[in-house]
Amino acid sequence: NTLAVGIHDLSFATTHYALDHAVLAERLGVDRDKFYLGIGQEKMSVAAADEDIVTIAAAAAAPILERHGTDNIRTVLLATETGVDQSKAAALYLHSLIGLPNAARVVELKQACYGGTAGLQFAAGLIARDPAQRVLVIAADIAKYELDTPGEPTQGAAAVAMLVTADPAILALDPHSGLYSADIMDFWRPNYRSEAIVDGKTSVNAYQKAAQEAWSDYRRQGGRDLAEFAAFCYHQPFTKMAYKAHRHLLESQGHTADSAAIEAAIGATTHYNRTVGNSYTASLYLGLAALLDHADDLTDRALALISYGSGSVAEFFSGTVVPGYRDHLRTEANRAAIASRELIGYEHYRALHEAGSPSDGAYHAMPEQTRRPFRLAAVSGHKRIYEAR
Ligand code: CAA
Repeated sequence: NTLAVGIHDLSFATTHYALDHAVLAERLGVDRDKFYLGIGQEKMSVAAADEDIVTIAAAAAAPILERHGTDNIRTVLLATETGVDQSKAAALYLHSLIGLPNAARVVELKQACYGGTAGLQFAAGLIARDPAQRVLVIAADIAKYELDTPGEPTQGAAAVAMLVTADPAILALDPHSGLYSADIMDFWRPNYRSEAIVDGKTSVNAYQKAAQEAWSDYRRQGGRDLAEFAAFCYHQPFTKMAYKAHRHLLESQGHTADSAAIEAAIGATTHYNRTVGNSYTASLYLGLAALLDHADDLTDRALALISYGSGSVAEFFSGTVVPGYRDHLRTEANRAAIASRELIGYEHYRALHEAGSPSDGAYHAMPEQTRRPFRLAAVSGHKRIYEAR
């Protein structure tokens, strides 16, 4: 008997502000349908001046601790590619914000958008060694590209927190995983820049190839057949990317890829990403949350999860939805997190985008903007000072 390990609880949070792509389209002088239909994005979450990955990570994780307590959470893995410090792990701030246990190892993980999946797989390994242990995995990112570039409409922000345990209540992971990594410069962010650099077309092609290679490896490892999956959750830098990658995968396997079948396999996974935008490490798991919240009953059905992080690493893995999973979802809270965002105009968005982080060591109070549970109150003496609202 193999030990069932997987996702026991899943919660996400996003920022206080959002920008409608119609506003951006008007500013850039393009048809809004290029964004609404062409890349499949309608809105994107925008971080307030007093928000960062720590505040959204805390907001995602707090409901999990409220429901399950902290007993036996002996490891906290936070994946991000928009970290706030080169040394200190961002999740350490969560001790004072939401009360993580001191008897825990706390580590930050990075490999572009793949980091959340690394966290999930490392967690599964720890639990296989000690099934009484529970691991809190958090993926949190604020996607930021330069203004007036093709990447700009694919920004966004969100954090996902997952409690990974033995005998999980939502998704039991299969033992098989398909892997693919290669040294590619499709998207990266040197230490001295706050915005990512991207070769858009190269990145789209690299994603498709990596997903296909990871699938081939998954099959070599003895994974399931394509026909077994009820749905496919892809990393979604923009929702259209999931459709492109799935079509590419089907065609590479000699399957006919008709649009209705692709919609049935992907559609439900895109509800949240379409309005949140790219959340890098969190994106795939926002896709999973959207699927679980919107699809018909998935009990005992197999799901495919396809993770891609530029640079690049891809993983094709899978799991089975656990009977009774619906009692553990957070559908209402997820929808409210999105619906309660404040829509802003272009000038406000631009000012937020252009504001840099204080770096002179003096005391800087951050303007009170967010209405979310946690905020960055000040930066002082090169220290970030957070507070619960
Ligand atoms: N109505 C409907 N559709 C329209 C339209 C209109 N009026 N105008 C254009 N379109 C369609 C185009 O036909 C195109 O569709 P197809 O791709 O299906 O042909 C789509 O809208 C986009 O148009 P363009 O290709 O002209 O868009 P672009 O060149 O301005 O930028 C992009 C697209 C390259 C994805 C750009 O947004 C970008 O660089 N984004 C950042 C990089 C990225 O997200 N890469 C994804 C893979 S890497 C990854 O996954 C890691 C990560 O998170 C970054």
